[in-house]
Amino acid sequence: MSVTQQQVLEALASVRSPRGVALTNADVLSPVTVSDGKVFFSINVDATEARAWETVRAQAEGVVKAIPGVASAMIALTAERKAGSPPPPPHRHAPGHTHGVAPVAAHRPPPNPAGSPMARQSEIPGIAAVIAVASGKGGVGKSTTALNLALGLRDLGLRVGLLDADIYGPSVPRLTGIREKPALNADRKMIPIERFGLAVMSIGFLVEEDTAMIWRGPMVMSAITQMLRDVAWGTLDVLVVDMPPGTGDAQLTLAQNVPLKGAIIVSTPQDLSLIDARRGLAMFTKVNVPVLGIVENMSYFQCPHCGTRSDIFGHGGARHEAERLGVPFLGEIPLHMAIRATSDSGNPIVASEPDGPHAAIYRAIGAKVRDQLRDAIAAA
Ligand SMILES: Nc1ncnc2c1ncn2[C@@H]1O[C@H](COP(=O)(O)OP(=O)(O)OP(=O)(O)O)[C@@H](O)[C@H]1O
Ligand SMILES: [Mg+2]
Repeated sequence: MSVTQQQVLEALASVRSPRGVALTNADVLSPVTVSDGKVFFSINVDATEARAWETVRAQAEGVVKAIPGVASAMIALTAERKAGSPPPPPHRHAPGHTHGVAPVAAHRPPPNPAGSPMARQSEIPGIAAVIAVASGKGGVGKSTTALNLALGLRDLGLRVGLLDADIYGPSVPRLTGIREKPALNADRKMIPIERFGLAVMSIGFLVEEDTAMIWRGPMVMSAITQMLRDVAWGTLDVLVVDMPPGTGDAQLTLAQNVPLKGAIIVSTPQDLSLIDARRGLAMFTKVNVPVLGIVENMSYFQCPHCGTRSDIFGHGGARHEAERLGVPFLGEIPLHMAIRATSDSGNPIVASEPDGPHAAIYRAIGAKVRDQLRDAIAAA
C-alpha cells in the first residue's frame, strides 16, 4: 500500500503548534515529499521559537511514522531568524556524552551555543572519529577530495564511511554512481550503501537531486542529525563528512553540532579561494574544531598527454597560507582530466586507478590525516 501526501497531511492536522493551531494551518510546512514510503518535509519556524517547536517536530515524526506503509520519516526543523528579531535565547542541555574522548572534548566550546534545538555534540556510538571536509567557497573540489580521501583512508586499512552533508546539492550519488535507496534495519535505521568498501550515505539517495532543494534554509540541522544518528553506520574508524560549501550560518551550525574530531579545508591556489579558505579555517577555530590541515586542489595543471606540469594558477599559495596560519599542509592534488572524468562517471580515481599517481597522492594525504586521528582511533 503506498502512502499518499494527503494521508501525511491528515496525520499532521492532529498535531498542534506551540500556539495551539493545527500544524497544517500554522503556515510552517514545506511541501511534503513521499517516495517509496519515505516521507520528507521541513518545518520552518522563527529561530526565537525553535525550542518550543522541537517537541512539535518530534510529535509530527511520531504521527507520520505511525501511518501504515511509512518506512521512514525525515522531518527537519529549520529555524530562520527574522530580520529585526532578537537572537535566540541560549539554552542549556545536559552536556553530551564525551567519555573516552577527553583530549578533544577539552577543546570544545560549551554545548549548544547556537541555541539550536538539535544542538548536541555527543559522540556517535561505533564511530571513532568524524571529520569534515569543507571549503570557503563552492566548486573547489571538496566532494571529489572527500570521496578520494575516504578511499585513501580505506587503503590504509581503516574502516571508513562517507556522509554527504551537502543537503543543498548532494553530489555523492553522482560521484559514487550509487542509484539505490538505503534499506531499513530492524531498528528502522537506514543502512548505508556499501560501495568501494565504504559505508556511504547521502540525502541524494532519498530524494531526487531537485527535491533536495526543499531543505534550503539557514539551519537544517535535524536533517543532518538524522543522517548522522539514524543511520546504522556500524563500527567505523573514520566518518568523512562532505560539508556544504561556504561558511554561512548553516555551515557554522553544522560545525558546532556534529561531533567533529577535526576539519580539512580544501582550497584552490587562486587568491580568492584562499581568502575563502581562511574564512573556513576561522569558522572551525571559532567552534574549537581542530583544523587537520589544508589541501590544495587543482594545484597545478597536469597534461593528460605528456604529463607536463604547468603552474597556471601560481601554485603553492595554500602551502604558504598553511605555514602562515600554523596549520598542517596536507598535500597538492593536480588539476587532471582523469580526476574529473572518473569523478563524474561514478568511479573515483583512487578506486579505479589504485596504482596511479593520483591515488598515491590521496593516500599520502590520508596518512597525514590518520596520524592526527591516531589517539581517537586507538581509543575506540
Ligand atoms: N583535481 C581535480 N582535477 C580535475 N577536476 C577536478 C579536480 N577536483 C575536482 N574536479 C572537478 O571539479 C568539479 C567540482 O568538483 P566537486 O564537485 O568535488 O567540488 P565541490 O567543492 O564539492 O563543489 P560544490 O561546492 O558544488 O559542492 C567536478 O566536475 C570535479 O570532477
Ligand atoms: Mg560538493
